[in-house]
Amino acid sequence: MLDGKKVLFSGMQATGNLTLGNYLGALKNWVTLSDEYECFYSVVDMHSITVRQDPQVLRKRARALLTLYIAAGLDPEKNCIYYQSHVSAHAELAWVLNCFTYMGELNRMTQFKDKAAKHADNINAGLFTYPVLMAADILLYQTDVVPVGIDQMQHLELTRDIAERFNAIYGDVFTVPEAYIGKVGAKIMSLQDPSRKMSKSDENPNASIYLMDDADTIRRKCKRAVTDSVGIIQYTDEQPGLRNLLDIYCACTGKTPEEAVREFDGQGYGVLKEAVGEAVVGVLDPLQKRVAELEKDKAYIDRIIKENAEKAGYFASKTLRKVHRKIGFPDRIR
Ligand code: TRP
Repeated sequence: MLDGKKVLFSGMQATGNLTLGNYLGALKNWVTLSDEYECFYSVVDMHSITVRQDPQVLRKRARALLTLYIAAGLDPEKNCIYYQSHVSAHAELAWVLNCFTYMGELNRMTQFKDKAAKHADNINAGLFTYPVLMAADILLYQTDVVPVGIDQMQHLELTRDIAERFNAIYGDVFTVPEAYIGKVGAKIMSLQDPSRKMSKSDENPNASIYLMDDADTIRRKCKRAVTDSVGIIQYTDEQPGLRNLLDIYCACTGKTPEEAVREFDGQGYGVLKEAVGEAVVGVLDPLQKRVAELEKDKAYIDRIIKENAEKAGYFASKTLRKVHRKIGFPDRIR
């Protein structure tokens, strides 16, 4: 609890280009949470270096993501939007938590196994302890709820285990976080393989709509989306490609699947695809314009970065001090 509100924490990596799936599934819904929760949204650049990054690209993308948070409607005066690397308490708590996490637990993490297989030439210790840094992110702010996708559930479970283990030894130091279950965003699938999630790391550029794609590219990708040979527009599991297009259409227009099906009743897939393209352009074009506006105002973004890092640092260091005292580190002499 902070100022009578529950605390919500989430983080996103600035690696890869964000997709329409990231926006409709996460970012767009976060905007509605700031009244109810005290929200922290971190650009988790420290997690990014577990795989090799080009420094210039990383810096640029991190800033672009932070700007995008604001452009998407997250008010940076109400939501603490900051770079993980600007708050050194993340690294400090991660070290402590490393000493309360078992190798066996980390060995079981499916994301570690996947990433180790994908980056076989660079299986570094950071990749292995990645979930511990994530636990530190969450526990530093006495977080009550964490909105995460299914792929991060295992990490959240581990975070809870670490918190409970620590609390069992030292008393109530950490709030034990829960997964945020509220209105979840639309789950957007790949345009080329509707059995897979739309992903920023898909090798096929036609599979994903990127948030910064121009209007023509968006229209073209929608037109090329994989459908089926049934030829009837309906919303069913048997037509996953079509259902995905309808989901995108609904998420962009606020319509229900039933309304959408009625609207396109008796029409060909081409008409639907065109309408989906226009609906996506209708959402992304204004978003891109707000990003461009914000990018021009360097001083404003810089101020947000500085002030929110200070705000995050204030809360984080409170928890860190408590942890240091509990585990027996000597008080600092002031
Ligand atoms: N690991 C998360 C992901 O890749 C990002 C992340 C880092 C995160 N720290 C977090 C998400 C804390 C939620 C809470 O998606």
